[in-house]
Amino acid sequence: MELWEVAANYHQQTKHHFHRHARSLGYMDWATQPDPFRRFAPAPLLILPLAADEQTPSYDAIYEPNEAPVQAVTVQTLGSFFQLSLAISAWKEYEGSRWALRVNPSSGNLHPTEGYLVAPAIRGLHHEPGVYHYAPHEHGLELRTAFSQEIWDEVVAGFPPGTFFVGLSSIHWREAWKYGERAYRYCQHDIGHALAAIRVAAAVHGWSATWLATLSDEALAALLGLDRLQDFEPEEREEPEVLAAIIPSAAANSENASIPHEIIRKIAAGSWNGKAQKLSENHVNWDAIADVAKACLKPTTTLPESEAENTSTRSSMVRIERTCTARQIILQRRSAVALDGVTSLTRDQFYWMLTRVFPTRRRVPWDMPCSQVCAHLAVFVHRVDGLKPGLYFLVRDPGQEAALHAALDSSFGWEKPPGCPAGLPFCLLQAGDCRQLASQVSCGQAIAADGAFSLGMIVRFEESLKEHGAWFYRRLFWETGMIGQILYLEAEAAGVRSTGIGCFFDDPVHDVLGLRGMQYQSLYHFTVGGPTEDTRLTTLPPYDVNRPVR
Ligand SMILES: Cc1cc2nc3c(=O)[nH]c(=O)nc-3n(C[C@H](O)[C@H](O)[C@H](O)COP(=O)(O)O)c2cc1C
Repeated sequence: MELWEVAANYHQQTKHHFHRHARSLGYMDWATQPDPFRRFAPAPLLILPLAADEQTPSYDAIYEPNEAPVQAVTVQTLGSFFQLSLAISAWKEYEGSRWALRVNPSSGNLHPTEGYLVAPAIRGLHHEPGVYHYAPHEHGLELRTAFSQEIWDEVVAGFPPGTFFVGLSSIHWREAWKYGERAYRYCQHDIGHALAAIRVAAAVHGWSATWLATLSDEALAALLGLDRLQDFEPEEREEPEVLAAIIPSAAANSENASIPHEIIRKIAAGSWNGKAQKLSENHVNWDAIADVAKACLKPTTTLPESEAENTSTRSSMVRIERTCTARQIILQRRSAVALDGVTSLTRDQFYWMLTRVFPTRRRVPWDMPCSQVCAHLAVFVHRVDGLKPGLYFLVRDPGQEAALHAALDSSFGWEKPPGCPAGLPFCLLQAGDCRQLASQVSCGQAIAADGAFSLGMIVRFEESLKEHGAWFYRRLFWETGMIGQILYLEAEAAGVRSTGIGCFFDDPVHDVLGLRGMQYQSLYHFTVGGPTEDTRLTTLPPYDVNRPVR
């Protein structure tokens, strides 16, 4: 069996069906609940400062090239960068239990994603370059290893001045504890959310970002110390996911740059601080996850050919005036636990959101190179003023329109809806009240019906895996998570709220669209609407002023 087939089989095996859910324990074993906060004691912990609101641009400015002023990389701006991407955003309390919410969302609030910094010597951080683990509970950086300036010069040789790096990894066990075999999918969604959160936080500081698309997982694991097996419990290892280069200038062209393996080996050979603290007393092993993770390891790859730019919607975007700051929107982002079944969006608000997730090479976060477009949106419109309720479709890459027309049910009308911006390939497939259907295919969750709209993210599946290899299975989920992250922020900016939906019945969604086989698959659902608040919960600030170290 080829590796891409292992990924495809895992996907098939972890589908939810009306009559059978993907394999999991079926209950929560509270005694083994993994700690959502990892520490590498006794690695030195450096507490980061928190962001000051007056320094952040308006929310809409971060999407416009050159509008947010470029800030210097200092311990202050690094603190603000991590706070606006991976930090705690609030504590919630109910009947004596207390749990943290974060800037980046996570399926089941389990947070399998860990963050790393690879940075030069920075005043107030450390006098040498180093690899750090980000500790969200403390909003601090743990120094895993330090290395010489000569090595740093070699690390950044191919990158613009001032570049630093942020790495992401996944602890599959954190997610598998609750979701069993399907958890690998959710870990990948969460990486996509975190990647978009990082790109957005960089944009707040006027920085650009790219990800090192050619780097192998083996190299990334060595750079971040994840292959130091002696530092981790076997069941709680971190899988390397992605390394982003953050570049403190408005436009950066470093698409081809990477970090040579021999330089990474020098860093890996240094002395490392601390060991990963144990997260659970006991574990359940899911072979399906171990197998798919092994098959989907990323080798060193060459860059795929650049995509043509979709510039068409830039000029025709509806314009909405808003005054909220980027910091406000990023920190107030929450998932709605219920939607009110009443609130509607205006047509302009709706089209604005769609335009933000329609990629162009200059639009954050789609400006990260190699953001090849694979995901499209099947949208259930319930309550958008001036639009008929019904099933609509956004083709996120006009080049794929013909293939999608051929793949989707031949009875669909593909009718341009009123007011749709020119160049936005968005069409009504079939009018009708889809509320019950939307909820039914999203595992019966009412939030899919009670919003202004909900959607399924439909990706070009089998051909993508055959073309790029098994690792691209992860990358497909990352794209859907990135779409989700932008929709989360857009919902907040529009005065409504949203929720990612990882629980859906896979094949029934395909049946609704007339999709056959594995050519296209739905990977993630999402809903946007007016929230109903749970007033029983108390909200507490994310950090104490004096932030005691654990
Ligand atoms: C990939 C993903 C899948 C999710 N799936 C669901 C879901 O099926 N149903 C639901 O009510 N919430 C879902 N959520 C929302 C999470 O439960 C929520 O993000 C988490 O509790 C943290 O809360 P916050 O988003 O307010 O920070 C999902 C979130 C993500 C990122």
